[in-house]
Amino acid sequence: MKNKVDVLLGLQWGDEGKGKIVDYLSPNYDMIARYQGGANAGHTLKIDGKTHVLHIIPSGIFHKNKLNLIGNGVVVDPVIFKEECEQLVKLGVDVHSRLLIAKKAHLILPSHRLLDAVYEKSKGNLKIGSTLKGIGPTYTDKTARLGLRIGNSLAADFVEKYNILKNSHLKIVAMYGDSIADFKIDNKPFDVYEKEWFAAIEYLKSFQLVECENVVNNMLKNGKTILAEGAQGTMLDVDYGTYPFVTSSNTVSAGVCTGLGISPHDVGKVFGITKAYCTRVGAGPFPTELFDKVGELLREKGREFGATTGRPRRCGWIDLVQLKYSVMINGVTDLIITKPDVLNNLDVIKLCTAYNIDGKHVDEFPFCVDEGSMSPVYTELPGWCSDLSYAAGIAGLPPKFVSYLDFLNQQLDTKITVISTGPGREETIKC
Ligand code: GDP
Ligand code: IMO
Ligand code: MG
Repeated sequence: MKNKVDVLLGLQWGDEGKGKIVDYLSPNYDMIARYQGGANAGHTLKIDGKTHVLHIIPSGIFHKNKLNLIGNGVVVDPVIFKEECEQLVKLGVDVHSRLLIAKKAHLILPSHRLLDAVYEKSKGNLKIGSTLKGIGPTYTDKTARLGLRIGNSLAADFVEKYNILKNSHLKIVAMYGDSIADFKIDNKPFDVYEKEWFAAIEYLKSFQLVECENVVNNMLKNGKTILAEGAQGTMLDVDYGTYPFVTSSNTVSAGVCTGLGISPHDVGKVFGITKAYCTRVGAGPFPTELFDKVGELLREKGREFGATTGRPRRCGWIDLVQLKYSVMINGVTDLIITKPDVLNNLDVIKLCTAYNIDGKHVDEFPFCVDEGSMSPVYTELPGWCSDLSYAAGIAGLPPKFVSYLDFLNQQLDTKITVISTGPGREETIKC
């Protein structure tokens, strides 16, 4: 019988700890596949005390004898890809044998990155807070049927096609009254970046470029196991997130089908991951955001600074209205809780169980959470006020923490299967 693809994805606004947990789960799978997003992601892994941040390469890359796949639905900046690979090679990781790349994945051009900056600048106070990695403009061109795919780089007319697309972008830049000279890409002038980009295209071509949908389906038929690694989080999904303050891809489980080329019948478990509190980086609604000492404590103790941009993350209490919505949309079968250790010293833990919007009690995530007067309704639970040691396993956890888990389990109606108590690979409890 054909195997199914299990999926791990974020249930909040990203940075839930996906990288760490994918690395932890990787030994159970033959392949780890990214299905959407690009280098806007920053996935952190801590292995033997050393921290690694991956942006575009799947988080299974540190495991020997595992394949990793950059799927159709991903958008790839060759320069960032090359830099990331070179760092891994320095660490002794044989990226060429462990990594496959979908020919149908779209390329992020230097001029896509330029457009990202131009659009953000033009938005004034309504900026999304994009990571400026060119994600939005690249997906826009994909949908508009203008984009270039990795497979195009193998054809003789690639440079010609590149120039046509680049020139159309430059016209847009001029329409906005901007000029190339006003922007740098990763601190480099456009033409310097462009030169690096073409060199990186050659590097990219040295990898195994594949028809991702065939590879994935054949593996499943041959009894192999695949874990799909989400990027961003459900609330950043272009359809179901807090639009327009979202990214430009389908981060939800449905994105796995289009992003890897599998049928809905081929999706198995859906691991939904959430922090024990909540964070968001960039602009947009965040109902449970804290502006007080507790918010600061979460940021400091949780080291909530962006893995891609270094920006401080906005912090708040866990939001069960939002999480129920995410569990529903993704069909979460297994819940994974990360970073409860950040709450170790708090006497009281708050969990948002409803919103009060203009005097009305709302317990389903609404169309708009940032209009009118909105305040979260909280349930308070006693804090466990002690360290959470992974070593003693589930039986060694403080009873008040177990009550907190029971509350989450009951509210979200989903079993908790993994608890993470620290950034390290080993700081993980299987339930
Ligand atoms: P991702 O984008 O979902 O992979 O998450 P990030 O890597 O952007 O952010 C998660 C951060 O929390 C990283 O710095 C991780 O090392 C760290 N982390 C992951 N799990 C835990 C945990 O259980 N406890 C603590 N204290 N840190 C964790
Ligand atoms: P991982 O995979 C957190 C946010 C940006 C911005 C919005 C749009 O590490 O969880 P984009 O660059 O896509 O135009 O940005 O989405 N964002 C993330 N926030 N984690 C991420 O990825 C994110 N990727 C994008 O901050 O608000
Ligand atoms: Mg991240």
